[in-house]
Amino acid sequence: MAPKKPIYVTQPELPPLEEFLPYLQKIWDARVLTNGGPFHAMLEAALCDHLGVKHISLFTNATIALVTALQALRIGGEVITTPYSFVATAHSLMWNGVKPVFVDVDPETLNMDPARIEAAITPQTTAIMPIHCYGTPCDVEAIQRIADDYNLKVIYDAAHAFGVRREEGGEQRSVLHHGDLSVLSFHATKVFNTFEGGAIICPDAKTKQRIDHLKNFGFVNETTVVATGINGKMSEFNAALGLAQLKHIDAAIARRGAIEARYRELLRDVPGVRMLERPAGVTPNHSYFPILVGPGYALGRDGLYRSLREHGVMARRYFYPLISDFPMYRGLPSADAARLPVARAASDQVLCLPIYPALANEDVERIAAIVAAGAVATPLPMPLAA
Ligand SMILES: Cc1ncc(COP(=O)(O)O)c(C=O)c1O
Repeated sequence: MAPKKPIYVTQPELPPLEEFLPYLQKIWDARVLTNGGPFHAMLEAALCDHLGVKHISLFTNATIALVTALQALRIGGEVITTPYSFVATAHSLMWNGVKPVFVDVDPETLNMDPARIEAAITPQTTAIMPIHCYGTPCDVEAIQRIADDYNLKVIYDAAHAFGVRREEGGEQRSVLHHGDLSVLSFHATKVFNTFEGGAIICPDAKTKQRIDHLKNFGFVNETTVVATGINGKMSEFNAALGLAQLKHIDAAIARRGAIEARYRELLRDVPGVRMLERPAGVTPNHSYFPILVGPGYALGRDGLYRSLREHGVMARRYFYPLISDFPMYRGLPSADAARLPVARAASDQVLCLPIYPALANEDVERIAAIVAAGAVATPLPMPLAA
């Protein structure tokens, strides 16, 4: 019997409604709905403080922010990127008329393998666009060395990396400091959400100003337009929600951490299931809980995916298919499957299990039990619903 309420891979976080209503009242009173209103300014300041960064520019979503980041740095030609991401990473290149060049990922982190980047550089290469996959920091030092040697820009798709820090020089520092620009997503499914939203982390005030112009049609003032900008502005509603969400973010990440710890304990000895380890010194945000279901697992990845669904658990094959397999990319020479064996294997094996603060311990245990049962025989016949 299927459960009454399915368990999805995530459930968006929301503050208590009564905490949000005073913000709405202020918006109604002021009648400032967008175009850089007071909540927009307050959220930028609050996020700089929370994330430990100096400059941030809020956006309507991360996809428009990625498109704008490429515009801001005037990126053209070819950009080296990963096939193991959400399609928006490569799509942002195509929207700029830039050719994506896919390289394989590292088997431990599933982030772009720096050793492959150098081999993919051509005279047309202008930038590298990696993602911190599942919030695991890339090998930022190795990537920066390559960028410096070849005079390339680095734009991180940091959609998964809200609040992620790593040890640098004896202290914990935001991973968002690396590269020329980093882009965050505040989509409903992310650790920190503003319903829809995103941001670019900028290194200096001048770059932020350029990005602020670009997200507002290129307007500098009422009569001056300095670029073919776009409408990427975050509204006051979304910014106010962000302010309300921020008050709960530490507790939400701590609860995610507890869920991850329990999954790890329960799945540690399940044959054929691998869990990703993070590099030492990382403070994670526990945004996803991916497992890799290998050849030693009786049901296979897709069998487990189906078994979970039969029990009302909507785990996701994230990322599957690879970006390089979609019709608009598969004709590229760099999309050739033979060049991307690690990404392909990960895409064939990955399953992201549900993780979100409201997920009950008992559900974590039942989900783990379904995974364990599929390792040795047929799926558990028990329903998930309480
Ligand atoms: C890696 C990655 N990049 C970009 C995006 C796009 O973010 P948004 O939905 O805010 O446009 C997502 C989100 O789903 C993502 O996971």
